[in-house]
Amino acid sequence: MFRATLQFQDGGSFELDVPEGRTLVEAALEAEAPLRSDCMSGTCGSCVGRLLRGEVTRDPMDQSIVSEDEAAAGIYPTCLTRLGSDARFELDYPLDPCPSPPTRMRAELVSSERVATTVSRLVMRVDDPDAFRFQPGQYLRLRPPGLRVARAYSIASSPASLPLVELLIRHVPGGQVSGWLDGDAAIPGATMTLQGPLGGFALDDRTGRAVFVVGGTGLAPAMAMIRAHAGRLPMLLCFGCTRPEELFLHDELRALEAATPGLEVRVALMEGASGTIRAGTAVALLAGDPVAGSSYHLCGPPAMVDAARAALRAEGVGPERIRAERFAVGG
Ligand SMILES: Cc1cc2nc3c(=O)[nH]c(=O)nc-3n(C[C@H](O)[C@H](O)[C@H](O)COP(=O)(O)OP(=O)(O)OC[C@H]3O[C@@H](n4cnc5c(N)ncnc54)[C@H](O)[C@@H]3O)c2cc1C
Ligand code: FES
Repeated sequence: MFRATLQFQDGGSFELDVPEGRTLVEAALEAEAPLRSDCMSGTCGSCVGRLLRGEVTRDPMDQSIVSEDEAAAGIYPTCLTRLGSDARFELDYPLDPCPSPPTRMRAELVSSERVATTVSRLVMRVDDPDAFRFQPGQYLRLRPPGLRVARAYSIASSPASLPLVELLIRHVPGGQVSGWLDGDAAIPGATMTLQGPLGGFALDDRTGRAVFVVGGTGLAPAMAMIRAHAGRLPMLLCFGCTRPEELFLHDELRALEAATPGLEVRVALMEGASGTIRAGTAVALLAGDPVAGSSYHLCGPPAMVDAARAALRAEGVGPERIRAERFAVGG
């Protein structure tokens, strides 16, 4: 038996006994420890933690979402990690306040609106908002009526908007859940099944300035954090899309920027940039931005997140100042 000390963002800690051969998440589930998890297969990123001390082994079959650079920086998917000694892990979210435990619940579809050729905004009203306490940055699993599959979507609204919950959903060619949104059943009043809240992506306010580098619907968790923490600390949002017809919520973001002290919004397009919209990627929007005193929140497709991470590391940003959520398809 080994002992893992889980150290949380707010300074709280939890001592977890981990039997030899068991993963940290397996031990945490048995002990009802506050270590978050979801997929148990290394794809969702909910359970990642930074190893501060101790010896661990990763599953040899591990094809997890954690990149080589993250692994080199001591970041582990704890659902695939076993201990070889007592160990200490740092987690990117606070112990207190704790979100409610993930539960299955129902929600009524309020509206589904195409906000770009490839993106819909979904607003739902959850049945029992008192039982659903989430932290900005978390996601839920959505299963539309008549489908057997559920998919992961980050919550774009702030907890203050409950019982309403907003999602930004990219239409994936051949996709089951995003494809459902195009059908006749996607009408107000449809009953959706939700599971959540899930995930450990949370605002890092320890450096005093929060930077978000997001691609496409990776905007969703950044919106939740910006909406919930507006005016509390300086924030920079770098938002990238591919083409003008795929850009969404641009006017809304400009209005949010004007109404929020300390918020700067930069938008980039790979093709067809004009006016205040710059040419290039969300990562390129960071050029010339001082890296000292900032924490970074990366979100979007895995390739975009890895590129942003590599660019920041090349600028000398330490791994402890970078947090990431990767939108793996089929997540
Ligand atoms: C933590 C997390 C948060 C996320 N948040 C968001 C969000 O806020 N917004 C968002 O838009 N996305 C988000 N995603 C990504 C989202 O979950 C996926 O895009 C979603 O799963 C796509 O679902 P779908 O049912 O529409 O497509 P799927 O049915 O999953 O299909 C996706 C694609 O894969 C192909 N495919 C499916 N099965 C197979 C197979 N067996 N072999 C080969 N190809 C296959 C399909 O043809 C299609 O092209 C998130 C992902 C994670 C992990
Ligand atoms: S629970 Fe470990 S990556 Fe999903």
